[in-house]
Amino acid sequence: MERHEIVEELIKTNLAVRDFKEEDVPSDVILRILEVGRLAHSSKNTQPWRFVVVRDKAKLYEISRTTPTGAHIARASFAIALFTENAKLPEIDGARAMEDMILYAWSLGIGSCWITNFDEDRVKKLLKAPASWKLITVIPFGYPRNPKRLGRKRRKPLSELAYYEEYGRPVTALSEER
Ligand SMILES: Cc1cc2nc3c(=O)[nH]c(=O)nc-3n(C[C@H](O)[C@H](O)[C@H](O)COP(=O)(O)O)c2cc1C
Repeated sequence: MERHEIVEELIKTNLAVRDFKEEDVPSDVILRILEVGRLAHSSKNTQPWRFVVVRDKAKLYEISRTTPTGAHIARASFAIALFTENAKLPEIDGARAMEDMILYAWSLGIGSCWITNFDEDRVKKLLKAPASWKLITVIPFGYPRNPKRLGRKRRKPLSELAYYEEYGRPVTALSEER
């Protein structure tokens, strides 16, 4: 497979995974995923992200209770809490690192799902995070329980989302040009 085909395949098949097998993700694999986060791009290369890996089941459960939309954290093999410190663009820097880790994890057969609506103070207390850190998200990871569902994306067509040169001009105009 060509490099671009591998990346395309990963992006096309990766869906939000909320149901995980009980199987543990090995420690060396978790470290490889973090290494990918470390290598991400950031504004002025400030690398403001801070990661806390959580494997302890009781702690995963406690974290799942800090958001109304993340019950599945409790079923994860592990989670990565993503914080930023002194970031000018915290959400952008944080999301870049996390997205790279999500896709890399997917290349290893590990699913995940972005989660929002956290009670930041409660998460920080549970993880003993320094006061200066800002919580971006906590993402659960694990081997998908139902691989058959994977790959069926419901997405808007490009014609509703993209324009060429100016709003209203369809991107199909691109293919009419050489
Ligand atoms: C910024 C963002 C916030 C999200 N918040 C949640 C969340 O709080 N809980 C949840 O279960 N899924 C959450 N998701 C996952 C989305 O619901 C999911 O990516 C979307 O529905 C597409 O799902 P699919 O890739 O399986 O088609 C979030 C995704 C993003 C990108």
